[in-house]
Amino acid sequence: MTQNPIIAALDVPTIEQALKLAQQLAPAVGAFKIGKELFTSAGPDIVRRVRDTGASVFLDLKFHDIPNTVAKAIAAAVRLDVQMLTIHASGGSEMMRAAEQAAQQTAAQLGHTAPLVLGVTVLTSQDSNTLAELGGETDVAKQVERLALLAAKSGLRGLVCSPLEIAALRRILPPEIQLVTPGIRTGAEKADDQKRTLTPREAIQAGASWLVIGRPITAAADPRAAAESILNSLR
Ligand code: C5P
Repeated sequence: MTQNPIIAALDVPTIEQALKLAQQLAPAVGAFKIGKELFTSAGPDIVRRVRDTGASVFLDLKFHDIPNTVAKAIAAAVRLDVQMLTIHASGGSEMMRAAEQAAQQTAAQLGHTAPLVLGVTVLTSQDSNTLAELGGETDVAKQVERLALLAAKSGLRGLVCSPLEIAALRRILPPEIQLVTPGIRTGAEKADDQKRTLTPREAIQAGASWLVIGRPITAAADPRAAAESILNSLR
Protein backbone atom coordinates (compact mmCIF):
# COMPACT_ATOMS: atom_id res chain seq x y z
CA MET A 1 0.00 0.00 0.00
CA THR A 2 1.74 3.16 -1.18
CA GLN A 3 -0.96 5.62 -0.17
CA ASN A 4 -3.72 5.76 2.42
CA PRO A 5 -6.68 4.54 0.28
CA ILE A 6 -9.44 5.76 2.59
CA ILE A 7 -11.66 8.52 1.22
CA ALA A 8 -13.95 9.70 4.03
CA ALA A 9 -17.31 10.92 2.73
CA LEU A 10 -18.19 14.26 4.32
CA ASP A 11 -21.94 13.61 4.02
CA VAL A 12 -23.01 16.44 6.32
CA PRO A 13 -24.99 19.58 5.43
CA THR A 14 -22.99 22.38 7.07
CA ILE A 15 -19.47 23.83 6.79
CA GLU A 16 -19.08 23.62 10.57
CA GLN A 17 -19.84 19.89 10.72
CA ALA A 18 -17.68 19.17 7.67
CA LEU A 19 -14.68 21.09 8.98
CA LYS A 20 -14.92 19.52 12.42
CA LEU A 21 -14.85 16.05 10.84
CA ALA A 22 -12.11 17.00 8.38
CA GLN A 23 -9.84 18.39 11.10
CA GLN A 24 -10.43 15.33 13.27
CA LEU A 25 -9.82 12.85 10.44
CA ALA A 26 -7.21 14.49 8.19
CA PRO A 27 -4.16 12.60 9.51
CA ALA A 28 -5.95 9.23 9.31
CA VAL A 29 -7.40 9.31 5.80
CA GLY A 30 -6.13 9.82 2.24
CA ALA A 31 -8.85 12.22 1.05
CA PHE A 32 -12.28 13.66 1.74
CA LYS A 33 -15.28 13.31 -0.54
CA ILE A 34 -17.43 16.41 -0.94
CA GLY A 35 -20.75 15.59 -2.58
CA LYS A 36 -23.76 17.40 -3.94
CA GLU A 37 -25.44 18.15 -0.59
CA LEU A 38 -22.44 19.76 1.08
CA PHE A 39 -21.21 21.55 -2.06
CA THR A 40 -24.66 22.95 -2.86
CA SER A 41 -25.25 24.19 0.67
CA ALA A 42 -21.74 25.39 1.53
CA GLY A 43 -20.37 26.45 -1.88
CA PRO A 44 -16.84 26.21 -3.30
CA ASP A 45 -15.38 27.68 -0.11
CA ILE A 46 -15.83 24.28 1.56
CA VAL A 47 -13.31 22.81 -0.89
CA ARG A 48 -10.72 25.49 -0.02
CA ARG A 49 -11.31 25.05 3.71
CA VAL A 50 -10.97 21.25 3.54
CA ARG A 51 -7.82 21.62 1.38
CA ASP A 52 -6.46 23.88 4.15
CA THR A 53 -6.38 20.82 6.47
CA GLY A 54 -3.72 19.43 4.08
CA ALA A 55 -6.01 16.65 2.84
CA SER A 56 -6.87 15.82 -0.76
CA VAL A 57 -10.40 16.49 -2.01
CA PHE A 58 -12.63 14.25 -4.14
CA LEU A 59 -15.37 16.47 -5.58
CA ASP A 60 -18.25 14.11 -6.34
CA LEU A 61 -20.62 16.20 -8.47
CA LYS A 62 -21.03 13.63 -11.26
CA PHE A 63 -21.01 16.07 -14.19
CA HIS A 64 -23.08 15.10 -17.25
CA ASP A 65 -23.68 17.74 -19.93
CA ILE A 66 -22.50 18.84 -23.36
CA PRO A 67 -18.70 18.41 -23.71
CA ASN A 68 -17.95 22.17 -23.61
CA THR A 69 -19.93 22.70 -20.39
CA VAL A 70 -18.36 19.70 -18.67
CA ALA A 71 -14.88 20.83 -19.75
CA LYS A 72 -15.48 24.29 -18.25
CA ALA A 73 -16.82 22.83 -15.00
CA ILE A 74 -13.76 20.57 -14.78
CA ALA A 75 -11.42 23.52 -15.37
CA ALA A 76 -13.17 25.37 -12.53
CA ALA A 77 -12.72 22.34 -10.25
CA VAL A 78 -9.02 22.17 -11.13
CA ARG A 79 -8.70 25.86 -10.18
CA LEU A 80 -10.31 24.94 -6.84
CA ASP A 81 -7.46 22.44 -6.48
CA VAL A 82 -9.40 19.19 -6.18
CA GLN A 83 -7.52 15.91 -6.62
CA MET A 84 -10.39 13.68 -7.84
CA LEU A 85 -13.77 14.35 -9.41
CA THR A 86 -16.58 12.46 -11.13
CA ILE A 87 -18.41 12.55 -14.46
CA HIS A 88 -21.07 10.20 -15.90
CA ALA A 89 -19.56 7.82 -18.47
CA SER A 90 -23.03 7.71 -20.08
CA GLY A 91 -22.30 11.27 -21.28
CA GLY A 92 -20.33 9.55 -24.07
CA SER A 93 -16.77 9.46 -25.37
CA GLU A 94 -16.66 13.04 -26.65
CA MET A 95 -17.73 14.38 -23.25
CA MET A 96 -15.22 12.16 -21.43
CA ARG A 97 -12.35 13.16 -23.75
CA ALA A 98 -13.22 16.85 -23.27
CA ALA A 99 -13.27 16.35 -19.49
CA GLU A 100 -9.88 14.61 -19.36
CA GLN A 101 -8.35 17.18 -21.71
CA ALA A 102 -9.66 20.08 -19.60
CA ALA A 103 -8.24 18.46 -16.46
CA GLN A 104 -4.81 17.97 -18.06
CA GLN A 105 -4.61 21.38 -19.74
CA THR A 106 -5.85 23.45 -16.81
CA ALA A 107 -3.58 21.61 -14.40
CA ALA A 108 -0.58 22.15 -16.70
CA GLN A 109 -1.37 25.89 -16.92
CA LEU A 110 -1.47 26.11 -13.11
CA GLY A 111 1.52 23.85 -12.53
CA HIS A 112 -0.70 21.37 -10.63
CA THR A 113 -0.88 17.61 -10.99
CA ALA A 114 -3.99 16.81 -13.07
CA PRO A 115 -6.84 15.51 -10.90
CA LEU A 116 -8.14 12.01 -11.45
CA VAL A 117 -11.32 12.28 -13.54
CA LEU A 118 -13.44 9.29 -12.56
CA GLY A 119 -16.18 7.84 -14.74
CA VAL A 120 -19.40 6.69 -13.09
CA THR A 121 -20.97 3.80 -15.03
CA VAL A 122 -24.39 2.52 -13.86
CA LEU A 123 -25.52 3.92 -10.51
CA THR A 124 -26.06 1.16 -7.93
CA SER A 125 -29.57 2.51 -7.42
CA GLN A 126 -30.37 1.50 -11.01
CA ASP A 127 -31.37 -2.03 -12.02
CA SER A 128 -32.33 -3.77 -15.26
CA ASN A 129 -35.80 -2.16 -15.10
CA THR A 130 -34.22 1.31 -15.01
CA LEU A 131 -32.02 0.41 -17.99
CA ALA A 132 -35.06 -0.97 -19.86
CA GLU A 133 -36.86 2.36 -19.35
CA LEU A 134 -33.94 4.11 -21.04
CA GLY A 135 -33.74 1.68 -23.98
CA GLY A 136 -30.65 -0.29 -25.07
CA GLU A 137 -28.73 -2.78 -22.92
CA THR A 138 -30.74 -4.06 -19.95
CA ASP A 139 -28.10 -6.31 -18.35
CA VAL A 140 -26.50 -4.15 -15.64
CA ALA A 141 -23.16 -6.00 -15.57
CA LYS A 142 -22.84 -5.79 -19.36
CA GLN A 143 -23.68 -2.08 -19.37
CA VAL A 144 -21.13 -1.44 -16.58
CA GLU A 145 -18.43 -3.19 -18.62
CA ARG A 146 -19.40 -1.39 -21.81
CA LEU A 147 -19.22 2.04 -20.16
CA ALA A 148 -16.01 1.16 -18.29
CA LEU A 149 -14.26 0.18 -21.53
CA LEU A 150 -15.57 3.31 -23.25
CA ALA A 151 -14.25 5.45 -20.38
CA ALA A 152 -10.80 3.87 -20.60
CA LYS A 153 -10.78 4.27 -24.40
CA SER A 154 -11.75 7.92 -23.97
CA GLY A 155 -8.67 8.53 -21.84
CA LEU A 156 -10.11 8.44 -18.30
CA ARG A 157 -7.66 7.12 -15.73
CA GLY A 158 -10.21 5.98 -13.16
CA LEU A 159 -13.73 4.74 -12.50
CA VAL A 160 -16.16 4.55 -9.62
CA CYS A 161 -17.59 1.05 -9.18
CA SER A 162 -19.50 -1.05 -6.68
CA PRO A 163 -17.51 -3.56 -4.60
CA LEU A 164 -19.03 -6.45 -6.52
CA GLU A 165 -17.91 -5.03 -9.88
CA ILE A 166 -14.22 -4.69 -8.95
CA ALA A 167 -13.09 -8.21 -9.91
CA ALA A 168 -14.87 -8.23 -13.29
CA LEU A 169 -13.57 -4.76 -14.17
CA ARG A 170 -10.02 -5.72 -13.19
CA ARG A 171 -10.22 -8.59 -15.69
CA ILE A 172 -11.05 -6.31 -18.64
CA LEU A 173 -9.40 -2.95 -17.87
CA PRO A 174 -5.78 -1.87 -18.24
CA PRO A 175 -4.11 -2.33 -14.82
CA GLU A 176 -3.26 1.37 -14.44
CA ILE A 177 -6.95 2.33 -14.27
CA GLN A 178 -7.78 3.34 -10.69
CA LEU A 179 -10.97 1.91 -9.19
CA VAL A 180 -12.76 3.84 -6.46
CA THR A 181 -15.40 1.91 -4.58
CA PRO A 182 -18.09 2.82 -2.02
CA GLY A 183 -20.30 0.19 -0.33
CA ILE A 184 -17.67 -0.64 2.29
CA ARG A 185 -18.65 -2.11 5.66
CA THR A 186 -16.32 -3.50 8.32
CA GLY A 187 -18.84 -5.92 9.79
CA ALA A 188 -18.79 -4.05 13.11
CA GLU A 189 -21.55 -1.63 12.10
CA LYS A 190 -24.91 -1.94 10.38
CA ALA A 191 -25.08 -2.03 6.58
CA ASP A 192 -27.55 0.94 6.56
CA ASP A 193 -29.00 1.19 3.04
CA GLN A 194 -26.00 -0.53 1.40
CA LYS A 195 -27.09 -3.92 0.07
CA ARG A 196 -23.93 -5.36 -1.48
CA THR A 197 -20.86 -4.61 0.60
CA LEU A 198 -17.27 -5.77 1.05
CA THR A 199 -14.94 -5.16 3.97
CA PRO A 200 -12.08 -2.70 3.36
CA ARG A 201 -9.59 -5.56 3.13
CA GLU A 202 -11.72 -7.60 0.71
CA ALA A 203 -12.21 -4.59 -1.56
CA ILE A 204 -8.47 -3.84 -1.73
CA GLN A 205 -7.70 -7.53 -2.33
CA ALA A 206 -10.25 -7.58 -5.17
CA GLY A 207 -8.38 -4.69 -6.82
CA ALA A 208 -9.84 -1.43 -5.49
CA SER A 209 -7.43 1.51 -5.47
CA TRP A 210 -9.51 3.74 -3.19
CA LEU A 211 -12.35 3.11 -0.70
CA VAL A 212 -15.12 5.67 -0.18
CA ILE A 213 -16.29 5.24 3.40
CA GLY A 214 -19.03 7.31 5.02
CA ARG A 215 -21.04 6.15 8.00
CA PRO A 216 -18.65 3.44 9.26
CA ILE A 217 -16.34 6.39 10.05
CA THR A 218 -18.57 9.45 10.38
CA ALA A 219 -21.29 7.80 12.50
CA ALA A 220 -18.79 6.08 14.82
CA ALA A 221 -18.55 7.27 18.42
CA ASP A 222 -14.88 8.11 17.70
CA PRO A 223 -14.48 8.76 13.94
CA ARG A 224 -10.69 9.10 14.13
CA ALA A 225 -10.33 5.76 15.92
CA ALA A 226 -12.68 4.14 13.39
CA ALA A 227 -10.58 5.42 10.46
CA GLU A 228 -7.34 4.28 12.13
CA SER A 229 -8.76 0.85 12.79
CA ILE A 230 -9.81 0.49 9.13
CA LEU A 231 -6.34 1.57 8.01
CA ASN A 232 -4.75 -0.99 10.37
CA SER A 233 -6.99 -3.71 8.92
CA LEU A 234 -5.36 -3.06 5.53
CA ARG A 235 -1.77 -3.44 6.72
O1 C5P B 1 -22.12 5.99 4.51
P1 C5P B 1 -21.63 5.17 3.35
O2 C5P B 1 -20.31 4.49 3.62
O3 C5P B 1 -22.69 4.23 2.81
O4 C5P B 1 -21.34 6.26 2.24
C1 C5P B 1 -20.91 5.92 0.98
C2 C5P B 1 -20.72 7.16 0.15
O5 C5P B 1 -20.51 6.74 -1.18
C3 C5P B 1 -21.92 8.11 0.12
O6 C5P B 1 -21.40 9.43 -0.07
C4 C5P B 1 -22.68 7.64 -1.10
O7 C5P B 1 -23.41 8.69 -1.70
C5 C5P B 1 -21.54 7.22 -2.02
N1 C5P B 1 -21.95 6.23 -3.01
C6 C5P B 1 -22.50 5.01 -2.72
N2 C5P B 1 -22.84 4.13 -3.70
C7 C5P B 1 -22.64 4.45 -4.95
C8 C5P B 1 -22.07 5.67 -5.29
C9 C5P B 1 -21.74 6.55 -4.29
O8 C5P B 1 -22.68 4.68 -1.55
N3 C5P B 1 -22.93 3.58 -5.88
